[in-house]
Amino acid sequence: MASATPRSRTRSAATTAGIFFLFLSYLLHVLAAGIFAQQRPFSKVDGGGWWKLLSNSVGISAMHMQLLPDDTVVMFDRTDTGHSNISLPDGSRCSTDCTAHSVLFHLSSSSVRPLTILTDTWCSSGTLLSNGTLLQTGGFRDGDRVIRFFSPSPLSDWVEQPSYLAVRRWYASNQILPDGRVIIIGGRRQFSGEFFPRDQYSASPVFQLSFLVETYDRESEGNLYPFLHLLPDGTLFIFANDRAIVLDVASKRVIRRLPPIPDGQRSYPSSGSSVLLPLRPGAAAEVLVCGGAPLGSYQAALNGNFLPALRSCARIKPSDPEPAWSMEDMPLARVMGDMILLPTCDVLIVNGAAAGTAGWELAREPVLHPVLYRPDLPEGTRFSVLRESQIPRMYHSTAVLDTHGRVIVGGSNPHSSYKFTNVMFPTELSLEAFYPPYLLTAAGDRPHVLSAPAEVGYGERVAVRFLVAGHFHRSGHQELEDVEVVALSPGFQTHSVGMNQRVVVLETSQTLGQLGGYETEVMTPPSPAVSPPGYYLWFVVHEGVPSKGVWVRIG
Ligand SMILES: *[C@@H]1O[C@H](CO)[C@@H](O)[C@H](O)[C@H]1NC(C)=O
Ligand SMILES: *[C@@H]1O[C@H](CO)[C@@H](O)[C@H](O)[C@H]1NC(C)=O
Repeated sequence: MASATPRSRTRSAATTAGIFFLFLSYLLHVLAAGIFAQQRPFSKVDGGGWWKLLSNSVGISAMHMQLLPDDTVVMFDRTDTGHSNISLPDGSRCSTDCTAHSVLFHLSSSSVRPLTILTDTWCSSGTLLSNGTLLQTGGFRDGDRVIRFFSPSPLSDWVEQPSYLAVRRWYASNQILPDGRVIIIGGRRQFSGEFFPRDQYSASPVFQLSFLVETYDRESEGNLYPFLHLLPDGTLFIFANDRAIVLDVASKRVIRRLPPIPDGQRSYPSSGSSVLLPLRPGAAAEVLVCGGAPLGSYQAALNGNFLPALRSCARIKPSDPEPAWSMEDMPLARVMGDMILLPTCDVLIVNGAAAGTAGWELAREPVLHPVLYRPDLPEGTRFSVLRESQIPRMYHSTAVLDTHGRVIVGGSNPHSSYKFTNVMFPTELSLEAFYPPYLLTAAGDRPHVLSAPAEVGYGERVAVRFLVAGHFHRSGHQELEDVEVVALSPGFQTHSVGMNQRVVVLETSQTLGQLGGYETEVMTPPSPAVSPPGYYLWFVVHEGVPSKGVWVRIG
């Protein structure tokens, strides 16, 4: 027995040495991984921004998201995936499936409340109406002609209205119009548009749109979830596949045809993403389209061949006498990215993959790094690569800007049901926040809005008062430079499309020191074509650092 002790001591010494070497090789591995990460072909790595996990599981995969004017984010996926990971409260209207397929996420507490949707909302569209209620339109099977309302309030739930849409709308897109109506365009095998509320004066509630026939690709369809942008003259920019038109909504006539972007497809399933760049007083509107997939990628992916995604962005002024796409390469190729307008008038590109297309199991090589695009910088200096997430966000992932100026990122489920094990990209129920580099500023250096009007009309002068710590003026009426006030309408986000996402830069007078802060006089938007009626987040941006947003109802 006496020999047992030294022997075991030797063994434990050996184990300790083993662990030490394991640790050493792990360390080398990590270092090597770090070195290789540096060698990726980034034009510029500044690694800015950071990530925070808000929730391990919100119970559903956030396929569709919308920020609401009470600082909640409503999310939903589909009713035909089987059970979700969150139950409906006892006594809910449900029969075989009593799990929730929609939840309300509270930004203040990171808590979720399950909501009831009973018909299928898969791959649907939505619009925040001018009264603050979310209108959701269409979906699949029993839900494909249903519209649904969600009004933000502590106890509210979805209200469904069956058979409202004239035709099935699955993969359609929406845009709010200057008169507060909503136009709903396309969907699978639908080469048409319609309105909410229904068009009462036309013989048919549906109007045909031959552009969607022209952009239909037999292999992949290639024109689903068209990108819609309301231009500041009230006309509608519609992009599908690789090209765009400008539609006069009243007459339903195509008044302009824009040339194709040369190098591939941009709309679903070759999902690129698009934004209307921030509108500045007096400047022509510009549209940006980034990423997507080369023609044939969908078919190739079905055959197990995942082609590299597009690296290019294309930018155009639709009102130019001879509009032409100006091309620029992103530092990283991407399909299924989400483009989010930031209060600083920059664009964040996040989520998605570097190979394949949208569709179940059809993408590879998650792109974990967000990229920032700064539209006002000279060409060649506009992009920077930001800090990566640890969580791949593939097909059915989303992102929305929140009231704090963060980007909420969720979803990813490239499978036909929830799958958590033995798959390359497990279903993600988690929710993260990306803090853009401007939030690295110490909280005290952010402007803090003291007062702004709750409701405004068009072309009015209103006062916005705010504080900027570290900028106390010594005497009254001292001027503060580099101040901008923007009105941002949060988008309905799904499948890389941000419906109704918009930033309007407001004209401001000088900003002068007042007792206990600064005051700037702001000119509200000139017309409902520039800013359709509804709830906007107003941000005061000082030296590139935005305040938290305050809700202002315009119109
Ligand atoms: C969801 O529920 C399933 C089945 O109960 C479980 O195996 C899985 O781990 C849960 N996933 C998450 C992210 O909570
Ligand atoms: C907003 O308008 C919609 C459509 O008319 C209506 O269903 C909804 O109840 C309204 N919401 C509020 C809060 O009044």
